[in-house]
Amino acid sequence: MDAAEHEPEQDQEHGLPEEALPGTDPAASAALAADPATALALLREGELEIHGRLTDASNAVLYCTVTLDGLTAPCVYKPVAGERPLWDFPDGTLAGREVAAYEIAAATGWALVPPTVLRGGPAGPGMVQLWIEPDPEAPELLALQDPAGPEDGWLPIVRAEVGEGRVALLVHRDDRRLRRLAVLDAVLNNADRKGGHWIGAADGRIYGIDHGVTLNTEDKLRTLLWGWADQPLPDEAQPVLKALLADLDGPLGARLAPHLTAAELDALRARTARLAGTGRHPLPSADWPSIPWPPV
Ligand SMILES: Nc1ncnc2c1ncn2[C@@H]1O[C@H](COP(=O)(O)OP(=O)(O)O)[C@@H](O)[C@H]1O
Ligand SMILES: [Mg+2]
Repeated sequence: MDAAEHEPEQDQEHGLPEEALPGTDPAASAALAADPATALALLREGELEIHGRLTDASNAVLYCTVTLDGLTAPCVYKPVAGERPLWDFPDGTLAGREVAAYEIAAATGWALVPPTVLRGGPAGPGMVQLWIEPDPEAPELLALQDPAGPEDGWLPIVRAEVGEGRVALLVHRDDRRLRRLAVLDAVLNNADRKGGHWIGAADGRIYGIDHGVTLNTEDKLRTLLWGWADQPLPDEAQPVLKALLADLDGPLGARLAPHLTAAELDALRARTARLAGTGRHPLPSADWPSIPWPPV
């Protein structure tokens, strides 16, 4: 028997041993994500067990399960102690920004971020977020197409060199869920919405993940979702933005205060008001790399 036969099966995407991935059933994780009250109680109070580290992650991202009253679900745990310092995000913690992003997303009613809490764990305080197992059948939302495109139903992001001097057009789908995510990212000032940072769940929803670099006071929107740039916001966005503004001056603002500086909260209010005021999707900035590269 050669050595390779003793190697545990690897999960291709994350390099985790196969047996370290209990309960990653797409339908079960989608159902729990759609029941935030149950998911939040489980994440807050359940017993957290670490199964492995996600090797493609830049900060410590631990794959865990959380168990309460016989219910077990997979989750990610990002301990604050495992955060790499970032010069342009000197205040607060990445974990706190992830929780703030969840609170804001929940307040929109669009359920675009998996339930996320701040709590203690085996590696100290950190963020714990419900794991969304990707639906293997979910249609691709990004593609490379002929530079003369885009094809019907797709919107252009950027033309890119794809090797041997060939040029292709990177496109995303003209999709209502992605458009909501684009509005949320404009509110969050998300500096990292690449293709791997949304997940298609088994119930047809999409969930954005990895919101550690959001909510800066300076405009840092970096995303692939430029297909609607400068276009009028969808009709459904205005009432959501107005309600968000009122909530920011009330209970939501109070929930965010432990995680953000006063200046970051002010900037969040100002961005939300600006978005509602212009009524248009933002344009890429000339002062900031507006497209994450590589894009996935
Ligand atoms: N809630 C989640 N559900 C499913 N997969 C997740 C979740 N959070 C993270 N992941 C997976 O773990 C990888 C690393 O997590 P991410 O939040 O992107 O960490 P980092 O800040 O290090 O980039 C992601 O690319 C994704 O594949
Ligand atoms: Mg990431």
